[in-house]
Amino acid sequence: MLILMSNQKIPVEKYSTPEIASKSVAKEVAALIQKNNSDGKNTVLGLATGSTPLHLYKELIRIHKEDGLSFKNTITFNLDDYYPISQDDPESYYYFMQQHFIKHIDILPENFHIPDSNMPRESIEIECAKYEQTIKDSGGIDIQILGIGRTGHIGFNEPGSSRDSRTRLVELDKITRDDACSNFNSLENTPKYSLTMGVATIMEAKKIILMAWGKSKSEIIAKVVKGSITNEASASFLQSHPNAKFVLDKDSVSRL
Ligand code: PGA
Repeated sequence: MLILMSNQKIPVEKYSTPEIASKSVAKEVAALIQKNNSDGKNTVLGLATGSTPLHLYKELIRIHKEDGLSFKNTITFNLDDYYPISQDDPESYYYFMQQHFIKHIDILPENFHIPDSNMPRESIEIECAKYEQTIKDSGGIDIQILGIGRTGHIGFNEPGSSRDSRTRLVELDKITRDDACSNFNSLENTPKYSLTMGVATIMEAKKIILMAWGKSKSEIIAKVVKGSITNEASASFLQSHPNAKFVLDKDSVSRL
């Protein structure tokens, strides 16, 4: 359901539950892939991790298995991963994507991309530039899926990230590390750094869908939908994107 209020600077769709909201997003993504498959074209997706997109991946897998949607012509680029972290570590985003999406669909292994969390520090600049180039060479991202952190981050673009930032190494915000720490047993074990697409990288996507669920996201959602554009909350830059929308459940929308 689309709701538009006068003080809103980003279109918002509100659904009763995350499951129903995610099904609507999955339908939109699947429709584009289906159309491009019929036209003999590739589809390029920008993908997110975390608890938010889990229902979306589940539904896309269902559509693949039950309705025969093929991902053979789909190319994916993940937003980010911790740095450094082994790909076998269950907390790495590489592992997350394999478990929750990639191994269940027929995407070609070479078409799944994620920043390499094992690269040596001295290669980071060159490898991040290559990541940007690979996105460009693939034709650019058709649909970018995003979650949002309580800091207002998209990807790991923490407060202070500029509009023109690109794929790079960033230091994680204390709030982000606090939110992640239960997965790593202690704050001390929680990664301090990540590799993330930049704000400019994300803003180049042709279409952007940010999803958010639950009361804990309601405050930051209200801030970035109604407040001014600021590098204190990188999601606020989406106000100036021509084709971005927020897909929310009744709890995350509650302060709008
Ligand atoms: P979450 O994380 O989906 O686990 O809430 C979102 C984010 O930090 O971007």
